[in-house]
Amino acid sequence: MGILKDKVILITGGSSGIGKSTAQLVATEGAVVVIGDIQDKEGNETASEIVKNGHQASYLRMDVTDFESVKKVTEEVSSRHGRLDGAFNNAGIEGPTAKISDYENLDWKKVLDVNLTGVYNCIKCQIDEMQKQAGGGSIVSTSSAAGLIGIPGASGYNSAKHGVIGLSKTIALEYASQNIRVNAVCPGFIETPMLERVTDASIKIREQLIKMVPMKRVAKPSEIADAVAWLLSERSSYVTGVALPVDGGWIAQ
Ligand SMILES: NC(=O)c1ccc[n+]([C@@H]2O[C@H](COP(=O)([O-])OP(=O)(O)OC[C@H]3O[C@@H](n4cnc5c(N)ncnc54)[C@H](O)[C@@H]3O)[C@@H](O)[C@H]2O)c1
Repeated sequence: MGILKDKVILITGGSSGIGKSTAQLVATEGAVVVIGDIQDKEGNETASEIVKNGHQASYLRMDVTDFESVKKVTEEVSSRHGRLDGAFNNAGIEGPTAKISDYENLDWKKVLDVNLTGVYNCIKCQIDEMQKQAGGGSIVSTSSAAGLIGIPGASGYNSAKHGVIGLSKTIALEYASQNIRVNAVCPGFIETPMLERVTDASIKIREQLIKMVPMKRVAKPSEIADAVAWLLSERSSYVTGVALPVDGGWIAQ
């Protein structure tokens, strides 16, 4: 019996990288998974693969920057499955690498819109659904090690990821007494399409990143999925308002 048996869980950005791996794992742990993303083909394929493996999953198009789209999908998940036990707000973009004098204002808006307002939209709609049901719920959002320390060249991304932690702590306090737990996960360097884009598939840049990590390697997406599945499950029943680094020791230095 899995740690998420019969839990209804919505995962944004679930068609790629960390979100996809988490969708696969939580389904294996018994959850009814709904993937929300803007990549319809990949989202449908991920859901189909999970179903082929004997688990429960579906895909719904959802743009996290569009409040009405988020509201519609969140309500649909609850009405289709009877409740919403958990959510993983993970959709994100990397944005450009540039010092602030070269950082375009439009890029700032775009990165904040997806990586912070997107999480706000999701949490707001999820709280509405979770409050209607007995038992509470568990919300996990993807911040980053970049949400805990400054990293030159990524002012938009770092600000948004710091914001995800502040937002998660605030909502955690607002709803702790209703047993709605709200946490953030802070990945270090994870082997996903995003990391490939950021390093431009350059072996030299990758080697530099790996040197910064005490464990001397990047992580597999499944290593983040394991932490998220735990936070979504009742195994973490007394954990709320935390920002959990999963980073091979990077920010402990
Ligand atoms: N890969 C890393 O090293 C790393 C490190 C720290 C944090 N993160 C964070 O992890 C999360 C997942 O990243 P990943 O590395 O798996 O990247 P990825 O590019 O593989 O996946 C990102 C997913 O988000 C979806 N998405 C983007 N904009 C969206 C929108 N407006 N609405 C709905 N979905 C949208 C994409 O379609 C994609 O499926 C992101 O929030 C990212 O910032 C990644």
